[in-house]
Parts: sequence; structure tokens; C-alpha cells
Amino acid sequence: MTYVTEENLTDLVLKRWKEIPDPRLQEVMQAMIKHLHAFVREIEPTNKEWFTAIDWLTRTGKMSDNKRQEMILFSDVMGVSMLVDAINNRMETGATPTTVEGPFHVADAPEIANGGNMAQGAPGIPTFVTGTVRSLDGKPVGNAMLDLWQTDGEGLYESQKGSEEPWMRGIFHSQADGSYVLRTVAPIAYTIPMDGTVGELVSKTKISHMRPAHIHFAVSAPGYRQVTTHLFQKGDKFIETDVVYGVKEALITEFKKMPAGKAPNGETVNEPFYLVQYDFILQKAAKAQAAA
Ligand code: BEZ
Ligand code: FE
Repeated sequence: MTYVTEENLTDLVLKRWKEIPDPRLQEVMQAMIKHLHAFVREIEPTNKEWFTAIDWLTRTGKMSDNKRQEMILFSDVMGVSMLVDAINNRMETGATPTTVEGPFHVADAPEIANGGNMAQGAPGIPTFVTGTVRSLDGKPVGNAMLDLWQTDGEGLYESQKGSEEPWMRGIFHSQADGSYVLRTVAPIAYTIPMDGTVGELVSKTKISHMRPAHIHFAVSAPGYRQVTTHLFQKGDKFIETDVVYGVKEALITEFKKMPAGKAPNGETVNEPFYLVQYDFILQKAAKAQAAA
């Protein structure tokens, strides 16, 4: 029998937690114990510090439910959500890269015809987004579904607005030639929720709690891999300090200022508007996914 010492404790725990029949769970638990013990050995917490950490985690868990997920927000600001996203979406070169979905997506957005407006009555600068959906080999992808959600021009998502009706979201489809055009308003930069435990932690740092202005897209088509991503506004002052690390270079787009006049959907707009051009490049789904 080996009795416990500070030196042998990690090895004892690792040995005990090898007794797991599921090989993946065993692998995960071994790595978790190794890194957790190394972390504790490195920081050498006082008892008071350790209980402060336990209390913070407890409060973070208690704040989380199906409406508010403070645990996910913790994962987001630690860059873990983007890391998991990157590991699970290693795209071929040239394909549109992914980012995290975030907490504001609402399923079953209203279907809107090509050229239609998903921001009826919303405050903000009129913005037209247009481009094509193509495959990596350049072929147009017709009837691709583009599911969009974003803030209005005051920085509010539907759930924050408390709107009974769908707000700032819509589903569009690409045309047979892969093209799409839609009307919205320009999103603005916004803060992550700062009234919870994550805000409490971020407030103790000099880290920006802002996300740069962006439009969320989930683009899918039969036989292709779904891309859940954002388009970011070039020049946004928070583009290099996104608190959830979502900004990839290929997703930064020009919001070109246009004078009042004819918009790309054919309508005449009587105030200046933005024009955003972006082509979504999809890669083929793996065989198993395509069959499903
Ligand atoms: C968002 O973009 O909607 C978002 C993503 C992660 C954390 C908070 C918000
Ligand atoms: Fe967002």
C-alpha cells in the first residue's frame, strides 16, 4: 500500500482513475487530472483562494439555465469555445471559415424572399448584403439556405429587445446561379452580458468586454458542410480585441458607403446605405454527413 504524500498524490489519483472501461472517458479524465494537478501545483492556492474559486464556479453554474448560459460565456471569454469550434471545423483551404454560434440564434426564422428585408421597422443604417454561394471548385450552389441573425442598429438581439415577433433574423435562399441579396440594417458593436460572474471576472482586468459589429450566418446546402460564421465590419474599433476571439481575417468585410439611390435588390433607397459583398465558399460534406 502506498500512502499519500504531496509528491506522489498526482500519480495515485491518475492510477485510481484509470479504472474506467470507456476508453475515451479514461483518456479525458487522465488528461484532466494531469492538467488540473499541474495547475494547482503551479499556483499553490491558499485555502481561501481555492474556496473563492469554488464559490465563483458555483455561482456561475447557478446563473446558467436555458435562457442564460454563464458557463458557455466563461468558455467563450477563455477562447475555449473558439478552440473547440476550430478543432471541429478544420476546413479545406479556400472554404469560408467558421466561428462560434453564440447564444442569440433562434431556430425557425421567417423565410424571406431573395432581395427581401429582414429588418422591417428596425433602427439603423440600411445595409444590403450580396454575393454568391459557391463550392470550392467554383460551381454555384443554388437553393443554399442562409440563416441570419444580428443586432439592430441599437445593439439589441431579439431576446434583448423582448420582441414577440421575429426581430433581426431571417432565412434566405440562394438563386440557381448561387447569387443572393438581402436587406438589413448595419449591426453595431455590443458588450457581452456584464451583470454576471463572467462580467465580475472581466471587470477585474483591462480586457475589452466588447464584440465588434457582426452579422451571424449559418449557410447550408444538401451535400455540403454547414458553415456557421459571422461577417465583421472592417474598421470596427473592436475588431482586434473581440472578447470571444471570433474574428478570422477572411470574415472581415467592407461595409461600403453608398449614396441614396438604386440598391442591388432593385429598390430605390432615399438615404445613404451600406453595401456588403461576400461569397460563401462551401466544402463538400464528408460521405457519412452527405448520406445523412
Ligand atoms: C454573439 O456573437 O452573439 C456572442 C457570441 C459569444 C458570446 C456572446 C455573444
Ligand atoms: Fe453576435
